[in-house]
This record gives sequence, structure tokens and C-alpha cells, in this order.
Amino acid sequence: MYNAFFGFTANPFNMSPDPSFLFRSAQHEEALANLIYGVQSRKGFIVLTGEVGTGKTTMLECLRDFLNSQQISFASLFNSRLTVDQFFEMLSYDLDLRCNRLSKTEVLITLNSMLLERASAGRTTVLIVDEAHNLDWDVLEEIRLLGNLENRRGKMLQIVLAGQQELDRKLEAPEFRQLKQRIALRCALKGFDREETAAYIQTRMARAGLANQAVISPELIEEIWFRSQGIPRLINAICDNLLLTAFAMETRKATIEMLDEVTADMRLEYPAARPPERTFHSDPAYPERVFRQSPTRSRVERA
Ligand SMILES: Nc1ncnc2c1ncn2[C@@H]1O[C@H](COP(=O)(O)OP(=O)(O)OP(=O)(O)O)[C@@H](O)[C@H]1O
Ligand SMILES: [Mg+2]
Repeated sequence: MYNAFFGFTANPFNMSPDPSFLFRSAQHEEALANLIYGVQSRKGFIVLTGEVGTGKTTMLECLRDFLNSQQISFASLFNSRLTVDQFFEMLSYDLDLRCNRLSKTEVLITLNSMLLERASAGRTTVLIVDEAHNLDWDVLEEIRLLGNLENRRGKMLQIVLAGQQELDRKLEAPEFRQLKQRIALRCALKGFDREETAAYIQTRMARAGLANQAVISPELIEEIWFRSQGIPRLINAICDNLLLTAFAMETRKATIEMLDEVTADMRLEYPAARPPERTFHSDPAYPERVFRQSPTRSRVERA
């Protein structure tokens, strides 16, 4: 909507996990290197965890691009709320196994011979499961058993599990002990720090055609980092709404007032937006007063 107004050739803050907008922060670079290394060196289980919106699915998209470029076969499951039967059916669809896909026995036999054939030709196969924190225990157990298939050169199926932090907690449970022991590589994503947030915003805007942007000032970017806690999806949502507001007001400069409006509309919670318990209870006019004397606002004004 606002692309032509600001001179963008594409939407800079699209919400989709698009690798062409990848910002190579140190942690994303490391996560991707781990995923690729784990697959190439046939490590077996690789786990990627992180808070909501930190870039896990984006990393998996990058891994898929890599696998495609290397002609490595993979199955990729996005909907992890599956029964065991559905899991095997989806796996066989993705790997294009020629068998009765409704029979777990047939799927396992066909999968095994496919993996053996590929392994003897020096090739590996990958199973990617996103949102793995939602997997049922019995599906996770089947995945663990698939991870046992190996020849003398290593695991025949590389398994990448990505999910929110609950996945880490789930793997700590006594019933997942065996699986936990088999995890060869782990990586975790968290929110960006303030420098990374600034670089992230600049990179996305440059990639969308606006190098050296002056729409969002460094002070405002600092405030966006603070309010989003550096979570990429929140940064995208804030910046997208901020650009839309500036466009609606026909200005090429975003302001702190616009940011206040955007984060209030998003119902975004961040430390300064939450009134301290004591004051809130003792002073019914508190929210209005905080709005007028917002500490975040005065920080920006001082800067
Ligand atoms: N390193 C990055 N470079 C560019 N964009 C990123 C990066 N990390 C995250 N994003 C952007 O942040 C948004 C959220 O990313 P993504 O969907 O990958 O997060 P997620 O961790 O899978 O979230 P969820 O926990 O909800 O599944 C997307 O718009 C994505 O493009
Ligand atoms: Mg995701």
C-alpha cells in the first residue's frame, strides 16, 4: 500500500518467512551452519528452539533451499498435530514412497529400502518437523525409532526438530530421556539486541529498495527494539504499521507519537507500558498520567 510512497520495490516487513529477506545475525548464521553441518555430517537428531517469532521457520526455509540446491531429498512436516498414522502417511507423501501409504508396515519397509539405497549411493535423507513442541508422545517415539536407522557411515535419516521453548522442556521429561540422549546438535534463537535490531531494520528496508532510509530515526529504532524485545516478528509488525501510519499522514518521517499509537493498537506489552502494581491500585487516574508522562517518550525526547 505504502510501497510507492516511500520508494520500496517490495514490502520490507512482510510477515512470511522469506529467505530472500534473511538478515544474517550471528545467531541465525550459527543456527543455519549447525543445521547444514548436522545434515551433511549425518549427525542424526538436530533440535532448533526459540521463542515465538524469532525466526525458526525462516531458518528451516533456508535449510530447504540448501537441501534443494544439493539435491538432498527431504520430507517437511508443518502440521505437527498428527496421529501416528497421519504422520506416516504424510512422510510417505513427502518422500514419494511407492507403497500403501495407509499401512505403517509398508511405509516403514519402503522407507528403509529407500534410505539404504540412497545411503549406498553416498546420499542422505532429511526429515524436518516444524512446531515440534506440539508432537504427541507416541509420534515423537516413532520419530526417535526412525532416527535409529543407520549404516556404518552414520545415520541414514537426519531429523531436524524445530519448536518453541516447550520443546526443550518436553525433552527434559523422563519419558523423552532416550530421545534427548540422541540429540547431536542443539541451537536456540532469541530476540535481537539493540544493534542487531537496527541492522535488521536497515537490511530489510535496503532489500526492499530503500538503502540509507531516513523514515525511522535511530532513536525510534532504539524504542522499537525496547518495545519488541528484539523479536523479529514484532519488529516487522511494528515497522509495517508505523510505515502505514506515516503514509496515511502523508509524511516520510515516523514519530514517537505514531509509535505510541501503533504499539497501543497492537496491545503490545513492554515494561514501561505496564503500570507498577502499587501506583495502579492507589491512583485510578494512573493510566492517563502514564500516557502523558511516558518514561519511554521522555527517553526519546532526551536523546
Ligand atoms: N534472520 C531473519 N532475517 C529476516 N527476517 C527474519 C529473521 N528472523 C525472523 N525473521 C522474520 O520474522 C518473522 C517471524 O519469523 P518465523 O516465522 O521464522 O519465526 P518462528 O520462530 O518460526 O515463529 P513461531 O514460533 O511463531 O513459529 C518472519 O516475518 C520472518 O521473515
Ligand atoms: Mg514457525
